[in-house]
Amino acid sequence: MNARAAAVLVVVASVASANEAFFKAEVVDAVSLPQAPKSTTDAVWSGVTGKTFSLVPQRTIRLNDKLANEKLSTPGLTEVLVRAALAGTELVMLLEWSDETLDVVREDEVNTYADSAAVQSPVSFGRGLRLPAISMGDEGQPVHLWLQRATKTGSQLSAIVAAGFGSSTRQAPAAPKQGTMTYDAAAKRWRAQFSVPVSATASLVPVSFALWDGGRLERAGNKRLSAWRFVRVPGRPSDAEYVKAMAWGWGPGELGDVSKGKVLAEAVCASCHHLPGRAVAPVGLAPNMADVGAIATAGYLRDSIVNPSEVVLYGPNPNQHYDKSQPKDANGAYPNNDGLRWFTVAPDGKRTSKMPSFAGFSAEQLGDLVAFLKTLDGKGATP
Ligand code: HEC
Repeated sequence: MNARAAAVLVVVASVASANEAFFKAEVVDAVSLPQAPKSTTDAVWSGVTGKTFSLVPQRTIRLNDKLANEKLSTPGLTEVLVRAALAGTELVMLLEWSDETLDVVREDEVNTYADSAAVQSPVSFGRGLRLPAISMGDEGQPVHLWLQRATKTGSQLSAIVAAGFGSSTRQAPAAPKQGTMTYDAAAKRWRAQFSVPVSATASLVPVSFALWDGGRLERAGNKRLSAWRFVRVPGRPSDAEYVKAMAWGWGPGELGDVSKGKVLAEAVCASCHHLPGRAVAPVGLAPNMADVGAIATAGYLRDSIVNPSEVVLYGPNPNQHYDKSQPKDANGAYPNNDGLRWFTVAPDGKRTSKMPSFAGFSAEQLGDLVAFLKTLDGKGATP
């Protein structure tokens, strides 16, 4: 074999192992079934191997409830086991997780919240399309969202299309239907089955999962969620280019040196973002990066640095932050503090991030930065 052929073989082998690592970490294989399992306890599920994905608290958008926010920062639901099956045009997913307490919707009491689970998947995905923002999609990339809330007799299922947390294009929920959620009191484990339509060609379906523990006052934005993960549909060829884009960060040389990335981030990013052990920026000026590595894919981090306005997060409600240096208005209220808004809005409504683009960074600097950000999994010191 000549040197050139050998080099090609090395490249092919390292691409294969990069893909292998990606599939092992981020992809659950669906099995093919003649018909969808009837319930969460259908015997067929016991023959299906699942994959466990970790969850982290959603911290970008907080409730105006101090106790609930404090509880979200203490250890809670940390992982979900996901099994998947293809039955005709339906992709059926079984989510299973441990929860010490059973908390259901109670119409007769206020301040009680139900254990809940959700699955989201992009409305469009495939070659050339980026993934939606993890918090319920964004204007350029909306998501389907299926949510089940535990009730005394099972669960309520609702389905919406969302284009960003708090966005005006978010659609109203369809009338809730009967869902399939069951609590095994002996094992203290929940199971929830979701059935979502899948096109005849989709081979690698992006999905992400969210869980709420009602007993910890979790509801709305206060939840635990996974990064984008994937279900591989059996018997369909995968699009190599799409797989490569989704698996970015696993390939050889794509991520760089963590310690160089840390130095760079502390020098140029910490003026706006809180980094573990380095919280010098005013609170709320930009998203806290404490667990961004657990919640964002490497590709999303790279794109956020190069092109911040492609996905613009809504950020904290500016009505919660008043500018007390200004006089009160006729109603006795201080004006909003626009300094804490994360974007500017053009007359045509287009939002531009206040984060400058770092498109001038070299591929090496970007690789270093993303390698560092990927280590931020929320387990380090949170400022
Ligand atoms: C001038 C302030 C500022 C600087 C400097 C800055 N950012 Fe940002 N960044 C923001 C704001 C505001 C947002 C939220 C709005 C948006 O979505 O772009 C943001 C969003 C992000 C996001 C998306 C977070 C998410 O959860 O989706 C990432 C990743 C990010 N920044 C990384 C960086 C990195 C890495 C650097 C340094 C190279 C940096 N930022 C420098 C202000 C800044």
